[in-house]
Amino acid sequence: METLIPTINRLQEVFLTVGAEVVQLPQIVVVGSQSSGKSSVLESLVGRDFLPRGSGIVTRRPLVLQLVNVAPLQERLKNENGVKAEEWGTFLHCKNQIFTDFQEIRHEIEAETERNSGDNKVPVGDQPEDIEAQVQEMILSFISNPNCLILAVSPANSDLATSDALKLAREVDTDGRRTLLVISKLDLMDAGTDALEVLLGRVIPVRLGIIGVVNRSQHDINTQKSLEDSMRDEQAYLQRHYPSLASRSGSRYLAKTLSRLLMHHIRDCLPELKTRVTMLSAQYQARLNGYGQPVEDHSATLLQIVTKFASDYCNTIEGTARYIQTSELC
Ligand code: GDP
Ligand code: NA
Ligand code: MG
Repeated sequence: METLIPTINRLQEVFLTVGAEVVQLPQIVVVGSQSSGKSSVLESLVGRDFLPRGSGIVTRRPLVLQLVNVAPLQERLKNENGVKAEEWGTFLHCKNQIFTDFQEIRHEIEAETERNSGDNKVPVGDQPEDIEAQVQEMILSFISNPNCLILAVSPANSDLATSDALKLAREVDTDGRRTLLVISKLDLMDAGTDALEVLLGRVIPVRLGIIGVVNRSQHDINTQKSLEDSMRDEQAYLQRHYPSLASRSGSRYLAKTLSRLLMHHIRDCLPELKTRVTMLSAQYQARLNGYGQPVEDHSATLLQIVTKFASDYCNTIEGTARYIQTSELC
């Protein structure tokens, strides 16, 4: 698994670059209506402040986060770049730049968003009229990948029956095998109401589970409340309001659950993935042979990676099951 995740990340980079959707890689996609708390949930999963958040459409573009095993990279970073860092970020659009300051990561996401989508913050003005349909289409194209885990975020202060996140998830995951529901904003419910029935799955059952969280409020963000403090307060809130569910709720529990699901999920996806990759590799090989001349970089890289993947797969599949039994990422 340790070698498999970087390989899957590499594959994802290559397929993003060449725009191929032939291989359906295991991944987690977060969906939810505007301001439901998607960015906040992602931050608590990663354990760092690095995403732009706020009311309105803030993120405005698909954001791909990859999971990496840092130890070998740390070594390389130290040797090649003279940088000593525990955690850092890089972007596909500026591959050689290393961001060790998470504020800078946020700024770069904002800047890249501006570069790509103009500077208006809401779907008016120079945005196409059918922006909503386009966004919907894009989300569906991500989550219809049968190897994608769907993290549906729905705020506690709006009716679950009309949840955009669940509606979207159900469209592509009819039997709910790959949807996990997060109920955000538990702290923002009307006085005298709570989400107990929802969290217990009595309103809408969700097979992989329903996990309630309390993220930072806009005020918390404005006053730069730390993620650590936020998680501590979240736990206290859960203990106070949902004592019977506190141990199965909150951001930390969500991170653990998701890691476990992803591990199992990657393992389940592997056989099918291998078949596809092997087939693809054969196709590319045939095409390369057909050219009879040097080919452009993309195909060559793709072939190389696909071949490496196939061999990595064979080498690691045996260890994988054992590794999953004994490890947790967070
Ligand atoms: P996104 O648009 O789905 O990515 O949502 P954001 O993560 O940007 O959050 C939108 C707004 O809701 C921000 O102002 C957050 O501070 C706030 N928010 C998100 N989750 C919670 C929560 O659990 N409780 C409270 N009080 N505010 C939240
Ligand atoms: Na938002
Ligand atoms: Mg967002």
